[in-house]
Amino acid sequence: MAGVLTLAWLHYLGIMFLAAALVAEHLLFSPRPDLKTARKLVTVDLIYGVTLAVVLVTGIARLFHGGKGVLFYMQNAAYHAKFTLFIVMALLWLYPAFKFLGWRRTLKSGQTPALADGEARRVLMMIRVQLLILVVLPLLAAMMARGVWST
Ligand code: HEM
Repeated sequence: MAGVLTLAWLHYLGIMFLAAALVAEHLLFSPRPDLKTARKLVTVDLIYGVTLAVVLVTGIARLFHGGKGVLFYMQNAAYHAKFTLFIVMALLWLYPAFKFLGWRRTLKSGQTPALADGEARRVLMMIRVQLLILVVLPLLAAMMARGVWST
């Protein structure tokens, strides 16, 4: 029981930090930030990447050690929808992540980073789509936990 509770706790903690990092990134984002903001954005994006991994690992662990058995989830369309949307989220993170990785190098050389207008629009759009997906995921999670859409 302690293992099941710990996994659930870590899954929730991961989700909370993930949401906080994504909202912070959205609020901080600017195509031409000052040095301080640029450093914060690079850090926040890194934290977001780590939380994506934590949520994935704890989610997979809950599939196998949650007490219901992995088949319970494999037969559930809400689980598949949730997992697919999560992967979309992780893929959408890659574009901003690469841009911020480039910023890291610029910052090391003491310069202020900047994005072209088109790049900035794409980064913002990807952050917003991820926020939108984040609204849907807890509903799908509640459905899958209760066997809604099970075959
Ligand atoms: C940001 C992404 C995610 C969010 C917001 C999220 C949200 C949640 C929530 C709210 C619950 C509790 C559901 C309830 O008890 O009513 C939950 C449980 C669970 N999640 Fe996630 N989750 C995410 C990612 C994942 C991923 C990637 C996986 C698997 C690969 C996963 C697997 C699970 C499992 C197995 C449970 C236990 C369900 C049960 O009690 O039967 N989650 N998730």
